[in-house]
Amino acid sequence: MASAWKADAATFWMQQSARLLWREAPTQAQAGDFTGTAHVTWFADGRLNPTESCLDRHAAARPDACALIWEGQDGRTIRLSWADLLQRVCRMANALREAGVAKGDRVALHLPAVVESVVAMLACARIGAVHMVLFGGFSAEGLADRLDDGTPVLVVTADEARRGAKIIPMKRTMDDALSRATGDSVRTVLVLAVTGADVPMTAGRDRALGPLLDGADTACAPAILAAEDPLFVLYTSGSTGKPKGLVHVAGGYMVWASLTHEVAFGCGSEDVFWCTADTSWITGHTYVVYGPLANGTTVLMYEGLPSWPTPGRWWDVIDRHGVTVFYTSPTAIRAMKAEGNDILEARGLDSLRVLGSVGEPIGEDAWTWFHDHVGKGRCPVVDTWWQTETGGIMIAPAAGAVAPRPGVATRPLPGVEAVLLDAAGVPVVGEGEGNLCLAASWPGQARTIWGSHDRFVATYFATYPGHYFTGDAARREADGYFRITGRVDDVVNVSGHRIGTAEIESAVMRGEGVVECAAIGVPHGLKGEGLVVFAVVQPGGAGEAALKALVADAIGRYAVPEAVYLVADLPKTRSGKIVRRLLRKIAAREIDALGDLSTLADPDAVGRIIAVVQGGG
Ligand code: WTA
Repeated sequence: MASAWKADAATFWMQQSARLLWREAPTQAQAGDFTGTAHVTWFADGRLNPTESCLDRHAAARPDACALIWEGQDGRTIRLSWADLLQRVCRMANALREAGVAKGDRVALHLPAVVESVVAMLACARIGAVHMVLFGGFSAEGLADRLDDGTPVLVVTADEARRGAKIIPMKRTMDDALSRATGDSVRTVLVLAVTGADVPMTAGRDRALGPLLDGADTACAPAILAAEDPLFVLYTSGSTGKPKGLVHVAGGYMVWASLTHEVAFGCGSEDVFWCTADTSWITGHTYVVYGPLANGTTVLMYEGLPSWPTPGRWWDVIDRHGVTVFYTSPTAIRAMKAEGNDILEARGLDSLRVLGSVGEPIGEDAWTWFHDHVGKGRCPVVDTWWQTETGGIMIAPAAGAVAPRPGVATRPLPGVEAVLLDAAGVPVVGEGEGNLCLAASWPGQARTIWGSHDRFVATYFATYPGHYFTGDAARREADGYFRITGRVDDVVNVSGHRIGTAEIESAVMRGEGVVECAAIGVPHGLKGEGLVVFAVVQPGGAGEAALKALVADAIGRYAVPEAVYLVADLPKTRSGKIVRRLLRKIAAREIDALGDLSTLADPDAVGRIIAVVQGGG
């Protein structure tokens, strides 16, 4: 029975593979599974170039139809047809080749939300280079860690970025990162003029990108890739150690991006799709670039913040460009909700058909507001659960097929075998809570961690042999719907940013006189979760401000904790383990519910910590 079912599964996946334009169509679907070394391949004998699915076929069929609309925060608008976008990508691809990039080389992209951020990703794909997009909010040290890990030969950055009234010195930060990087893989830095500011250029290494593009040919023969060749590496944080570069591949990832974009949002070539994510996030990779473009959907990109220069700016963007599907994060939804409903009442938002949410749990409040006020009660809200590792959406109320319900991700998409396992690995059947695992592969899964397949196996497949463990827990409700309840590892989700508490702790430990520390997540009204650090520091050692600055330096300002409490000691078990559960409750001011303290080595420590938190610092 099982094998007959699997044979049908192969038929299903082979049908799905036909979404892409292949140079050589694959003849087999999945090979390998989650046992042993978890080496899985999909469509392995197929050959393709992903950009032919995203660009060439649409440029041939509908050259003048709109592929991408970009609006700058100053109101400037760029509209590119499929023919235009293909030409821009080819120019950039030729510029990269001219700068010495070859198939298989890594290219680091460090750009703001300008058209070139999308063009550069596709240009890498065009020539078979592996892009690694780096978040503009990383500190120089955060960038250097990733450059050393991914060893790119070339970096594309910008002179500066605009962010509301602020100017972000992208090139300066990249220079600092390159001087800190211990490796010397980077031979060339291409600098895009965004604000036109004068920035220092290192002779022999740095080149202005503009002139290179102007001189480049508008046609570029695509490199033909094997389905399992890497398409990109993207870094994310886990519970231990340094950030991991998840590797996604040219064939399976693209099939999953296309399938999920179509099924979750009911999206096709008539839609104007706006995913507000930055391209440095997996959401930007899959739903700003690869999914919608593969499906011939018009992509909208906006450069700026939801409420700058005035509240309601994002709503104006929707009205101005006739956005039909709007996909954003609970953090953005909560921020816009806080501005009040008057701002919304003044906008039509008539073009909207489907709303989506991603990145963190969307509580019932934010869900209901999004549904009632943005969707005016007529648009389904698609709450999508997935991860950098999964490549695309896994659990969501597929628009038009599954009834949404506030705060619940609902059902796995076709082909997703979601299971809940208890601590002993026993499946939770029917209603109940457990650790969310995936019992079988799907084409979009990351294949490995860049440079360390052992770490990939240990991180995802060791907890429950034969299963991919997500790090999240979930509850299956009476009707079979999945409600994601949050991370069960030491990862905190601040405004959708995954932050490993171990990374925060190692930054704080560099502080003068710091003896030990613990970072934890607490509920936060706007950010979803906020970080709080408890640190034991010797007299005369670093204070709160100095410790926060260390986190900003090591990771980036987005990771700076809400508070650093300087305490005399941390609550520990008799065997010396820090009891984080207690710290979470104290930081969340739930001191009535601390439970049994008798197993602590020093129960009195708790009272002293509470006094510090209640004293406000
Ligand atoms: C969390 C983002 C609840 C979850 C695509 C997951 C969510 C982590 C949801 C992945 C959701 C993402 N409801 N929690 N709809 N979507 N998460 O890798 O903890 O940046 O493991 O990928 O975000 O974050 P990542």
